[in-house]
Amino acid sequence: MAESEYPERQRRQLYGRRKGPKLSARQADLRGTLLPQIAFDPTMDAQAQFPPHIKSLWLEVGFGAGEHLHQLAGEHPDIGMIGAEPYEMGVAKLLSKLAQEPRANIRIYEGDGRDIIAALPDGSLERFFLLFPDPWPKTRHHKRRFLQMEMLNELARVLKPGAELRFATDDKSYLPYALERLIAHPDFEWTARGPSDWKTRPQSWPRTRYEAKAIKGPPSYLAWLRRKPGPAPRDPGLIDRTGNS
Ligand SMILES: C[S@@+](CC[C@H](N)C(=O)[O-])C[C@H]1O[C@@H](n2cnc3c(N)ncnc32)[C@H](O)[C@@H]1O
Repeated sequence: MAESEYPERQRRQLYGRRKGPKLSARQADLRGTLLPQIAFDPTMDAQAQFPPHIKSLWLEVGFGAGEHLHQLAGEHPDIGMIGAEPYEMGVAKLLSKLAQEPRANIRIYEGDGRDIIAALPDGSLERFFLLFPDPWPKTRHHKRRFLQMEMLNELARVLKPGAELRFATDDKSYLPYALERLIAHPDFEWTARGPSDWKTRPQSWPRTRYEAKAIKGPPSYLAWLRRKPGPAPRDPGLIDRTGNS
């Protein structure tokens, strides 16, 4: 695979919508009051944007309505949860949830998750989530998919050795597309030991809104580890896990 799959101009374009239905008066109010208090600024020190007790950072790109981010933030109050979502109504939904059930450890970036990843220092994240990303099923649109080889290089850079990358999809063609790139990437190692590891949602993965409402087929849940430095071990489980010979 070529090191650069697509020209820079195409890679940096954000696909998908930012605007949707008009916000309610309450949503618009929260956008003006709560969002500025918890907005994440990629140009500033990530850790410094959280309360001092927070020592580890997780990032979810494309959080949709934010239920996964919100639940995990509640379960892990010592983790700083950064969420990126350019869709205004998605951010509004998470803000409404936060107004009802505040979480001191969530910061929101209303924009392209790639801005955050590009700005983070090496080894700054302990977990990364990409859950049911826009599938862009037509071949000519595959370049719009989030999980490009260049993105994996960037994720390998910002994830600490041993950190986890979680990816879920219900799209039949995004699954092999992601697997092809992850398997080829020297810095990532699949944690699955058998089909039940990727066909069943692990208990520690809260269900997302998309997953609950709009599923197209059986989802796959992939958990990968950022390899620690050292020689890459031969992977005897790969053939069983993928079903390929
Ligand atoms: C199919 S939805 C899934 C939302 C959520 N993860 C879920 O499972 O319910 C994909 C989301 O990714 C967001 N998205 C697409 N490209 C993005 C990017 N470059 N950075 C951040 N979010 C992005 C879209 O706005 C959309 O809300």
